[in-house]
Order: sequence, then C-alpha cells, then structure tokens
Amino acid sequence: MAKANLNSKIIATTIDTEGLDFSIANIKELGLDKQIETKIEDLTKEYPYPANYFDYIYARLVLHYLSFQELDNVLNNFKKSLKSTGHLFIVVRSEKNVDRNKPDIEYDPITRLTKVFYRDENKNIIGTGVRYFHTPETIKEHLEKAGFKIDYIKEFEEQLYKDFMRTKIAPRLDHVIEVHAF
Ligand SMILES: C[S@@+](CC[C@H](N)C(=O)[O-])C[C@H]1O[C@@H](n2cnc3c(N)ncnc32)[C@H](O)[C@@H]1O
Repeated sequence: MAKANLNSKIIATTIDTEGLDFSIANIKELGLDKQIETKIEDLTKEYPYPANYFDYIYARLVLHYLSFQELDNVLNNFKKSLKSTGHLFIVVRSEKNVDRNKPDIEYDPITRLTKVFYRDENKNIIGTGVRYFHTPETIKEHLEKAGFKIDYIKEFEEQLYKDFMRTKIAPRLDHVIEVHAF
C-alpha cells in the first residue's frame, strides 16, 4: 500500500510487541519509515483518532478476536473516523472452521466467543484460542449496525503458510470472510 501510494501516510497498529519490532525492521529496510508510523494500540481500550480522519481502514484477521460488544464499539469508532468518502476492508475467520460436535470447544452466547483448547499427542492442553467465528450474516449485521454500506462480501478458503513471507506452504486451509464496505 505504501509503495503504491507514495503520498499516503499510514498508521500500522498491533498489540503484539514482538510483531511490532519485526515490522519496524522490515519497514526500515524497505525505506518506508517516513511514510508508515507504527504503534502498539489495543482496539478494545483506546481509539485516539478524530472524526473524518482516515481515507481507508484495513483490518485483516483482527476483528474476530473481539467479542460481540467490543466489535460494535470498534466498528462505530471506525465509521466515525473514516471520511465520508472513506472505505473499509476487513477479513475475519469463518464459522466454517469450527466443528461444534468436537470436544474441547467452549462457546459463550453473550460474547459469542468460542474458546478452542489445543492438545499435544499426549492429550495435554498446550494452548487455547479465543475467537468470534463469523458467518457472512453476522459480520454484515455488525457492519450495518455501525452505519456501513456493504460493497461486497465473499467467503473463501485461504492457504496458510508456515512463515511470514509466505514461502513455505502449511498443510492447512482457513475459511475466511472478506468484506469491503463504505
Ligand atoms: C492473525 S494476526 C493478522 C496479521 C495480519 N493483519 C495478517 O493479515 O496477516 C492478528 C493481529 O491482530 C492483532 N490484534 C488482536 N487483537 C487486537 C486488539 N484488541 N487490538 C488491536 N490489534 C489486535 C494482533 O496484534 C495481530 O497483529
């Protein structure tokens, strides 16, 4: 994005401090540090941007970490901070990734968050993942509630990779939902 629009100014945010260091190094190496400002920022805690500020908001594989209530707040913030000509691109993980008949899955109907327990070969729990898995209908409902108009919604399977630069294919596909909205 930065290379394609040399006059653009980009603010890139994350809650992952290690990921931030990695990104800063990449951005410097590409000579894009004048154009891209990087920040640690938790969308559920702060949103320090004024109204009518951004031309474009890009949130790929981020919003499914938010609960039903957090997602409504964040999308309201996004909508307010976008210019009237602004637009939004998001990708969230799909409900199709979850087999609800399997054990080791907990669902909270209030937050709509699903907690998945990961186990090693000896059945010991080695981690958990918490996400709001979406259908095209659930994400559309949240977006429209926040005042967005949907341009398109598509659901597809995405190839996963073992490495950040996507050179080593992982033996897994991920069901995702992509939305472009105004
Ligand atoms: C799976 S990674 C996606 C990275 C990249 N956007 C991509 O598409 O490959 C999830 C990202 O969501 C960010 N994230 C998760 N919860 C967040 C929150 N509450 N506020 C801001 N960022 C969050 C993490 O810091 C991480 O960078």
